[in-house]
Amino acid sequence: MAAVAFRNVTKVFGKDVFAVNDLNLEIRDKEFMVLVGPSGCGKTTALRMIAGLEEATGGDIVINDVRVNDVPPKDRDIAMVFQNYALYPHMNVYDNIAFGLRLRELKGFFWQLTHMGDAKQIKQDIDARVREAATMLGIEQLLHRRPKELSGGQRQRVALGRAIVRKPKVFLMDEPLSNLDAKLRIQTRAELIRLHRSLGITTIYVTHDQVEAMTMGQRIAIMKDGILQQCDTPDVVYKSPANRFVAGFIGSPPMNFLGATIREDGGKAVVDTGAFVLPLPASHPAAAMVGKEIVLGIRPEDIYDAAMNNPVATVQGVNTFDAKVDVIEPLGHQYVVYLAAGPHNMLASIDTGTRIKENSPSQFIVNLDAIHLFDKQTEAAIR
Ligand SMILES: Nc1ncnc2c1ncn2[C@@H]1O[C@H](COP(=O)(O)OP(=O)(O)O)[C@@H](O)[C@H]1O
Ligand SMILES: [Mg+2]
Repeated sequence: MAAVAFRNVTKVFGKDVFAVNDLNLEIRDKEFMVLVGPSGCGKTTALRMIAGLEEATGGDIVINDVRVNDVPPKDRDIAMVFQNYALYPHMNVYDNIAFGLRLRELKGFFWQLTHMGDAKQIKQDIDARVREAATMLGIEQLLHRRPKELSGGQRQRVALGRAIVRKPKVFLMDEPLSNLDAKLRIQTRAELIRLHRSLGITTIYVTHDQVEAMTMGQRIAIMKDGILQQCDTPDVVYKSPANRFVAGFIGSPPMNFLGATIREDGGKAVVDTGAFVLPLPASHPAAAMVGKEIVLGIRPEDIYDAAMNNPVATVQGVNTFDAKVDVIEPLGHQYVVYLAAGPHNMLASIDTGTRIKENSPSQFIVNLDAIHLFDKQTEAAIR
């Protein structure tokens, strides 16, 4: 059982590097929370403060309602898996996994048993836990091997085994998959999720990869420049990004951003991009902002070839726009299409059944229910 919280946590390096800036984040018991953001946004620093490897400049780190800022790392009952995991080269897999356990348990809980002369019992307990972890990770046949006889993926699993075997209150993982090749990363991603489901241990997982965040996190916390931008389920973050940064960071290919103005047209508010005009429902808060310059966001997957049979009907002059097709990139299941609509360069994900051609004009439609508007100055979503 462990809930973890950051309450107004700040970490300043030197005089003015705000690695983490007034962070408020509650991670629930048993939750798989992903911290995601570009390199340098403060993810590792946040994680290291939970582990006690970095001291907060201000605010409270809280585990199960107890402020732990002053609790030494070894007493926090936390296991951390790093990107650059180091296995002991001279030990086989079994001993690598058992090592931390022996060290830890001999010092603490098992110490009494040792002194009661029940060393055999300890050995059996450790053995059971090592084998249980190895089975869970599918490396039970590798227990006798040395690290140099393992593939990168297998080594990473041994590193995970070393963390799992301790059955900590909290797992902290800092980009643990980034040294693996693409295929292995996807496979290990699924294994980690399965592992979390069966162990139910609160996990805080750091990555710069938005796909990893979206596929793994029960909730994801997006950071930029030490500041939390949004924390919610992948679905909410994708459909309702809080600001332009989150909107551009989550989703691939990335959201298109177009400078636009709210205008009145026949008594109704519209979004005018200069190249095309889209209607705004009267209920939209931006409808009351006539004259305001905004940023229109449209995800590539919300643009369709108007000539095709789409989930969104083509309504001429309402959701349509004309554009020149510059480049068509085949992705197998879809095309990524580079469009130019007036001054706006855009990306669209189009079904492979399309008959559009490079260097030709075509008509496209926008799913009006999925457009995003952002304040040009503050970059906050208008909704
Ligand atoms: N020990 C340190 N001394 C000085 N600056 C640091 C130190 N650790 C991290 N930083 C700075 O703090 C910011 C956040 O770093 P970090 O938490 O490692 O980001 P991330 O893990 O998201 O890439 C960066 O600007 C980084 O240069
Ligand atoms: Mg980092």
